[in-house]
Amino acid sequence: MKHLDLAVQLAREAGDVLKHYADREKHVEFKGRANLVTIADKESEALIIRGVQQRFPDHAILAEESGIVEAARPSAAGRSVRWVIDPLDGTTNFAHQYPFYCVSIAVEEEGIVTCGAVYDPCRDEMFSGARGEGAFMNGERLRVSDVDRLSHALLLTGFPYDFREKIEIPLNYFRGFLMESQAVRRGGSAALDLCHMAAGRCDGFWELKLQPWDTAAGGLIAEESGARITDFAGGPFSIYMKEILASNGRIHAEMEAVLRQAAGK
Ligand code: IPD
Ligand code: CA
Ligand code: CA
Repeated sequence: MKHLDLAVQLAREAGDVLKHYADREKHVEFKGRANLVTIADKESEALIIRGVQQRFPDHAILAEESGIVEAARPSAAGRSVRWVIDPLDGTTNFAHQYPFYCVSIAVEEEGIVTCGAVYDPCRDEMFSGARGEGAFMNGERLRVSDVDRLSHALLLTGFPYDFREKIEIPLNYFRGFLMESQAVRRGGSAALDLCHMAAGRCDGFWELKLQPWDTAAGGLIAEESGARITDFAGGPFSIYMKEILASNGRIHAEMEAVLRQAAGK
């Protein structure tokens, strides 16, 4: 079975777990003041890890709730493969029954994300992509928007869980984009934000302090749809970096300029 086929299959099955708990007791626990985990995060993650281990015992895993899970045996092909998993991206939304959350599963080979699937169980939308092969939503090819001016752009963003410790920095960026774009939305699921950008439903996205499991699948899907993804200064992006600037490409330079100005550079 191809990696992407398994990612899609497990994302859908994990999405069924989320749907099952959507209107049931969720056993919410607090990892931090605003950082939640529910029984659905845990069951979704257990299902995905089990599925990967059964099929690919020589693959490693990086999952939000379990951390690093080493491969049960060394790789047969001598290549290191790691699955990067967010079992529920948008836990706060999920806990409040706000229908904007997803499952995100990516495969990283020798440090490069090669494919990924993001499943939104609320809209029954399966986003998927493989490097060099394009990205799709329920079988339809995705393309970023062609909006070419920031003043006409709809932007998405999010805030890190620890924003109360240093609110000025994220607020300055937020203020800058609010003033220069058409509108800014804060959805609460970075993986879905990136997929909506891939689908041309918005034009740009920025966020601080995301984790690899937030951006691995959505980032690849966006890139395969024609998005440009960099750090805030226009340098190459990696899922291990603590800042992400993604756009349809056409408004990227204008977005960089806003970030520079907001940072006082
Ligand atoms: C969060 C979401 C949110 C983003 C946060 C993430 P979680 O992930 O992606 O949109 O603003 O920074 O941590 O905790 O719901 O998996
Ligand atoms: Ca997440
Ligand atoms: Ca999560």
